Amino acid sequence: MQATTGSEPFRQGDLIVKPVAAWTPGVHALLVALHRHGFDAAPISAGYDEAWERVTYLPGDTGDLDGHAAMRGEKALRSAASLLRRYHDCSSLFAKDLEADYTWQLPARSPCEVICHGDFAPYNVVLNDGEVTGIIDFEAAHPGQRIWDLAYAVYRWAPLSSSIALEEMETLAAQVDRARIFADAYGLSIAERPSLPGIIVERLEALLAFMEREAARGIERYRRNLQEGHDRIYREDIAYIRKYSIEIVAGLTG
Ligand SMILES: Nc1ncnc2c1ncn2[C@@H]1O[C@H](COP(=O)(O)OP(=O)(O)OP(=O)(O)O)[C@@H](O)[C@H]1O
Ligand SMILES: [Mg+2]
Repeated sequence: MQATTGSEPFRQGDLIVKPVAAWTPGVHALLVALHRHGFDAAPISAGYDEAWERVTYLPGDTGDLDGHAAMRGEKALRSAASLLRRYHDCSSLFAKDLEADYTWQLPARSPCEVICHGDFAPYNVVLNDGEVTGIIDFEAAHPGQRIWDLAYAVYRWAPLSSSIALEEMETLAAQVDRARIFADAYGLSIAERPSLPGIIVERLEALLAFMEREAARGIERYRRNLQEGHDRIYREDIAYIRKYSIEIVAGLTG
């Protein structure tokens, strides 16, 4: 990551600095509560003023699946899923208190079991020795069900997508294997697994609606997402997951 003048986060010594947003108070309350409960795999809040928010820098490699080979490894996949579980277990202890007191970038969903990370993807974790050791970028955090957050994480980590140009993940079979490893390492019960494809579709539809709403009210980031065709990819992925949901469930439960 480079220091920039736009709205990108930048590093300042041991801190990461980002512009504040309407949901910054909620995100920082979440980081404070995680820290208070002994969760050591998220940035620590260093506060915010009217312009900037600051959190601690987490050392490690960052990037997407196409960046480092280690990010595509099974060790990263398993450790990501078990870290998401640990994050959910911790945030379940105070989710209802935060739900009542703060507003979030994404709409809160009932029932509130945890504070969903909202974007638990390879590009929002840090990696050390091939293991996912930290979670970053809580901008999309919002109250909701564990499986709502897990569904999106499985979509990103498998990844359940028809447009992946990575040799080891371009077949449905390889993707479903990875989805299974993720669900196992998270500790998702077999009984809950058949609902996953439907929840991923619902989550992607909600994301599309959100992106279109934000672009329509002139938010630059989402206008750019639409110009770059992100909506088309999500639509194709929704069709792909619907088409193969029987195979996905068979792989997850068999
Ligand atoms: N707390 C942190 N510790 C270490 N690196 C960080 C931290 N926060 C941000 N970064 C670095 O800055 C990059 C962008 O940060 P972040 O994910 O918060 O911004 P973003 O604009 O939302 O990006 P994206 O939309 O790709 O998720 C990250 O990929 C990571 O390299
Ligand atoms: Mg990010």
